[in-house]
Amino acid sequence: MRRFLYLAIVSLALAVNVTAQSQSSPPQPSAPQTSISQPSLKDAYKDCFLVGAALNAAEFTGEDQGEDAIIKSQFNTISPENVLKWEAIHPSPGTYNFSQAEKYVEFGEQNHMFIIGHNLVWHSQVPKWVFEGKNGKPVSRKELLHRMRDHIRAVVGQYKGRINGWDVVNEALNEDGTLRQSSWLKIIGDDYIEKAFRFAHEADPAAQLYYNDYSLENEAKRRGALELVRKLKAKGVAITGVGLQDHVNLDWPTTDQIDATITEFGKSGVKVMITELDVDVLPSSTHTADVSYNVASDPKLNPYPNGLPDAVQQALAQRYADLFRTYAKHCGLVTRVTFWGVTDKDSWKNNWPVRGRTNYPLLFDRSAQPKPAFDAVIQLAPRQAP
Ligand code: XIL
Repeated sequence: MRRFLYLAIVSLALAVNVTAQSQSSPPQPSAPQTSISQPSLKDAYKDCFLVGAALNAAEFTGEDQGEDAIIKSQFNTISPENVLKWEAIHPSPGTYNFSQAEKYVEFGEQNHMFIIGHNLVWHSQVPKWVFEGKNGKPVSRKELLHRMRDHIRAVVGQYKGRINGWDVVNEALNEDGTLRQSSWLKIIGDDYIEKAFRFAHEADPAAQLYYNDYSLENEAKRRGALELVRKLKAKGVAITGVGLQDHVNLDWPTTDQIDATITEFGKSGVKVMITELDVDVLPSSTHTADVSYNVASDPKLNPYPNGLPDAVQQALAQRYADLFRTYAKHCGLVTRVTFWGVTDKDSWKNNWPVRGRTNYPLLFDRSAQPKPAFDAVIQLAPRQAP
């Protein structure tokens, strides 16, 4: 009888173990035994820049406990992945839904973090009604400016003195440096950017205001952004900084390109923030971070569904080391480095630019464990916390 009981317990334990393993998909390479609280990213870089992450609702409500521990121990700034975008906060005319955004801001306040608002004026995740007038015709310039001002006043005003910095205009440029033909540009004209900054400044004069975009390491696009900054400053517009999204690949852009980009914006008199950092390790025909580029998956494009091979894991760690070496070279000019997500499990890179893949773009794996890339970034820090 005792032997039977023993066998029953052993087989039950095995079954539980197998189930647990098959649920934790995909298996991770042997997790490094680094403690996530000692040292932390925010302490390691405290004399250089803030370090943060974009959070989803499960993260800022504490529902995801592994992530919660990482966020509180590692980061001193947060960005809202989606809850402050127009479609989420202002879904229909006159209807503002602040409930999730309020929780996000409260989370930042409780944890004494520098709180970012993302974003006010963008071509994506903005409802169609914003650009429609009577009978479905495009709205007039005057009315669209009015709607833009109302939105910015309501949202920035709601968090006046609580949200510390805003991505005022997101992704206004094409790859060749010309202005993107968004509905904002088509209806208002190219002064829509200046207007958005003026409305934001009016709503919270103390808030930092940023222009945010991807691929600014491309020379033509960077020239366009530098020209934009020059014009805004010449008109006396309050622009604090430029956000380099830095949704990068293992080999694009080069650190020389990033270095030159930071230097150029610094010369134009604005601060630089790395606002949406992640490193795509999967094959792709594009390195664009344009959300409108989103193709269906194919097994050839998803080579690591069951875990990242060690060689790629090491390449990722090396890439992160190179990136942070470049950012830290510009301590003080670069004031913040924010990852676009906390762990690989929830990263948008699992679905962009190709849907339904298993990607590994961040410093923490799917089980909320630090990866070799985390160690690499900590080791590089200019000064370790005492
Ligand atoms: C992404 C979010 O991560 C996704 O959850 C959402 O479905 C689409 O947008 N550039 C930006 C971010 O400025 O707002 C985008 O975030 C990623 C690219």
